[in-house]
Amino acid sequence: MNTYSVTAKAHPNIAFIKYWGNQDDSLRLPSNGSISMNLASLSTTTTVSINPKLNSDSLELNGSTQTGPPLRRTQQYLNLLRKIFKREEFLDIKSTNDFPMSAGIASSASAFAALSTAIAHLYRLRLQQKELSAIARLGSGSACRSIPPGYCEWKTGSSHEVSFAITIAPEHHWALWDCIALVESKPKEVSSTKGHSRADSSPLQYARIMDTPRRLDICRTAIINKDFGSLSEIIELDSNAMHAVMMTSKPPIMYWQPTSLLIMHEVKNMRHKGIAAAYTLDAGSNVHVICTEESYQKVEDNLQDIPGVIEVIKSPSGGGACLIQSKNPN
Ligand code: DP6
Repeated sequence: MNTYSVTAKAHPNIAFIKYWGNQDDSLRLPSNGSISMNLASLSTTTTVSINPKLNSDSLELNGSTQTGPPLRRTQQYLNLLRKIFKREEFLDIKSTNDFPMSAGIASSASAFAALSTAIAHLYRLRLQQKELSAIARLGSGSACRSIPPGYCEWKTGSSHEVSFAITIAPEHHWALWDCIALVESKPKEVSSTKGHSRADSSPLQYARIMDTPRRLDICRTAIINKDFGSLSEIIELDSNAMHAVMMTSKPPIMYWQPTSLLIMHEVKNMRHKGIAAAYTLDAGSNVHVICTEESYQKVEDNLQDIPGVIEVIKSPSGGGACLIQSKNPN
């Protein structure tokens, strides 16, 4: 069969300063800037093939053929890319995650970062990293931060071309770890996409957005200076501020579970005992505990002892999206 296929890989990322709410939902232009760290031990690998015999797009996730919302979201994205790059062929996509998809770890970030990287090579686009980051953003906002390596900042930007992420420090600059305490293994009740569209209904969102440049400055400086004290204070504040917006949206969204709160208290106790650890929660109940190279083993041991914690998944800071393989029939 005359197929041409490209395989790419990308890591999910954990936001230290969160993206919550959009200025433009369809272009995913965020209401505020954000900073994150890529996660080396977790990845999505995606193969995209052009097969002239296809009469619609097809999507396989972890070996199972998709028909429902994941296929529709992917098709919507592919339609957008076909329009931008003036292409017509349907695509066959096969994607695998090496982490549990139901675990509430942002799989859409690594999924759209790997997919956009594979398509850029398939279409031979020769994009700059910032252009690819903007293209990934159209699939899932946080995916733009999984394109560049290491610690990344996504500036809001008022148009498609200028809303992308850049590396502010490479992954080996500071060996931070994320110990993810899994609290629930079922998918979250309200998706991030739905949550973003509710953000402006919270009376707290405006204040959160107005204060974001200050939090971004503190976080960026803490990363550059490897200042864990200042980082831990700002990431916990940022996570609490985002969840306060979620809880006060109309209708409200409550992602925290009793075990999430138990873990947040335990992280504070760990810090009092001199263990470098700080919590942050995305749109879900699982708790990401950010810690240093010296502390991650103790953090993992402590988390495992908390009743209600199903599993602890850990990862150090990681690189950006990359091409794995390209198979040309000619
Ligand atoms: C809470 O990027 O998953 O994790 O653009 O609709 O796909 P969509 O949303 P998504 O939102 C991420 C929200 C967050 C915070 C963050 O990662 O910055």
